[in-house]
Amino acid sequence: MAAAKLQPVPTAGNEAPAPERSAEDIAGQAYFDRIIAEDSRIEPKDWMPAAYRKTLVRQISQHAHSEIIGMQPEANWITRAPSLKRKAILMAKVQDEAGHGLYLYSAAETLGTPRDVLNQQLLDGKAKYSSIFNYPARSWADMGAIGWLVDGAAIANQVPLCRASYGPYGRAMVRICKEESFHQRQGFEILLELSHGTPEQKQMAQDAVDRFYAPALMMFGPPDDDSPNSKQSMAWNIKRFSNDELRQRFVGMIVEQAKVLGLTLPDPELRFDEETGQWIHMELDWQEFKDVIAGRGPCNAQRMARRREAHEDGTWVREAARAYAEKQLKKVGAA
Ligand SMILES: [Fe+2]
Ligand SMILES: [Fe+2]
Repeated sequence: MAAAKLQPVPTAGNEAPAPERSAEDIAGQAYFDRIIAEDSRIEPKDWMPAAYRKTLVRQISQHAHSEIIGMQPEANWITRAPSLKRKAILMAKVQDEAGHGLYLYSAAETLGTPRDVLNQQLLDGKAKYSSIFNYPARSWADMGAIGWLVDGAAIANQVPLCRASYGPYGRAMVRICKEESFHQRQGFEILLELSHGTPEQKQMAQDAVDRFYAPALMMFGPPDDDSPNSKQSMAWNIKRFSNDELRQRFVGMIVEQAKVLGLTLPDPELRFDEETGQWIHMELDWQEFKDVIAGRGPCNAQRMARRREAHEDGTWVREAARAYAEKQLKKVGAA
């Protein structure tokens, strides 16, 4: 049944009249506004503004792509891990990241965009993913620095997303955060062991932290005054804290942990300002951030080439799965 159309709201002067909105849209908007005001959850079949849906599809799919591309720097080290135990742990961690990608693609699909479309956007270079995965993993100690700093930054960013207003996203994040916390601990433990090893091992750990510190801080995104979409995301209860607030939290967390590790953070300006209650850290190179996001980072081309190759290699699996699904459907039809 077609929804009744309401009269457009008359506007003053030469302004174009506001577009007509159906009664269904008006009621839907009222419901949506109430749910957001109550800090409750929007579910897939609920009415939602087109811009809310679009923002979520973009954010969740970028997050999914990051999990999938993020497998690469660490997967490269599985065969070179120093012991069977380390290999098993690293393999489990990389598999977790694949799982995170899958939960997130599923959450994005509930908003009406199929996974194939999202995947194609990544393969075509049209979709973004986290800048951090375009940096190389040069040594075994990088597995420690990635786990400690990169998964640590991911946790700081993602724990508040467990309360995101879109139900499927928030629920996926609960499981993901539990696993990220294991990832962060395994990274910390790698660095702890290296920093208590030979002087060369300690140096290797320090070098890894030196290279990953600034890129990890940039994972929270540009400073608040240069982050135009944040305000709307916060108003919709998708995002709960600003980029700078989350970065602050993260810095406060790693300062104490670095002491336990016996490693230093490569930041000459790092100090806690008692007056403002803020951590002061060095100026980050936002031009570098923009370059890496735009595809000009040290490993962008390599990461995308590997992803396309893996997609090609997986063609037979998708074909087999499709053939199996068709067969199952026929069986159900025949029953
Ligand atoms: Fe993850
Ligand atoms: Fe992780």
